[in-house]
Amino acid sequence: MNTNEFWMLGGDLKISRMGFGAMRLPSSERGGPANDPDTGRAVLRRAVELGVNHIDTAAFYFSGDLTANGLISEALRPYRDDLVIATKVGPRRGRHDPMPTGHMEPAELRPEVERNLRELGLDRLDLVYLRVGGLGPAPDESVGERFEVLARLREEGLIRHLGVSNVTAAQLEEARALAPVAAVQNRFDVTMPQDTELLGVCEREEIAYAPFFPLGGFGIPEDERIARIAARHGATVPQVLLAGLLALSPLMLVIPGTSSPAHLEENMAAAGLKLTSEDLAELQSP
Ligand SMILES: NC(=O)c1ccc[n+]([C@@H]2O[C@H](COP(=O)([O-])OP(=O)(O)OC[C@H]3O[C@@H](n4cnc5c(N)ncnc54)[C@H](OP(=O)(O)O)[C@@H]3O)[C@@H](O)[C@H]2O)c1
Repeated sequence: MNTNEFWMLGGDLKISRMGFGAMRLPSSERGGPANDPDTGRAVLRRAVELGVNHIDTAAFYFSGDLTANGLISEALRPYRDDLVIATKVGPRRGRHDPMPTGHMEPAELRPEVERNLRELGLDRLDLVYLRVGGLGPAPDESVGERFEVLARLREEGLIRHLGVSNVTAAQLEEARALAPVAAVQNRFDVTMPQDTELLGVCEREEIAYAPFFPLGGFGIPEDERIARIAARHGATVPQVLLAGLLALSPLMLVIPGTSSPAHLEENMAAAGLKLTSEDLAELQSP
């Protein structure tokens, strides 16, 4: 990984722009059969070895007894001083639910933050996103009451930086009026660019943007343009998807998810893939 590929999260926390998403470690299908925990731990250790210091997780990423947080704790403790673990709270998922079934009430958020602290074996969480909405953002929903709970936990020292996930530009503004927002995590990949207004706010306010489903989320997109660019560089389509995001803006933090050691190596190598201005124009053309 290029050593200059970092972002200062919230102005004071050095975070690798090439990160790792842990959702797929317990099970590659949400609610599907559990993956092999030894492989999951090996993937995490290798990601860190390759220079990743940003791991994205949540207590609601699990399959049966196998949890993303548990694997992170087992694989990476004692944590390196520079490791940044980002987690999310908001969705409610019972032990036997294959997917989250709804949203937590404000009063449920403190216990959920404490659960993340416990599962990860930490005294303070580096970055906690309030995750709102369902599959897409819920534009009419106020985030204020729930974000205030996290803002209080930040003041108490249980959280270092706050983020919001799956939000509209208006919801980001509502949160920012209550406490500093260091990162946004919304669905975004180079084949479906959106969030133009929100990205403008992130650029202006130096807020990181960590796209979820950076590889499309439901299978690598079949896109002739991307395949052409990949062929020009002797690279793969996932590598072009990731390099394209990193090239969009210095505030883009990518968190590709995989439970496969080979895919991890492939994805991490994308940090060294330099796309040309011609490639980028082709990626962004309608
Ligand atoms: N805030 C939110 O609402 C939200 C929602 C979803 C995800 N997230 C976060 O975002 C992270 C990234 O999203 P994601 O993991 O769901 O989706 P993704 O990164 O877009 O794609 C992951 C999928 O692509 C496959 N894959 C990964 N690398 C590959 C490669 N080089 N070649 C072929 N297939 C490859 C993985 O399968 P294999 O395991 O077989 O490699 C997995 O099925 C998650 O891990 C999670 O931390 C957040």
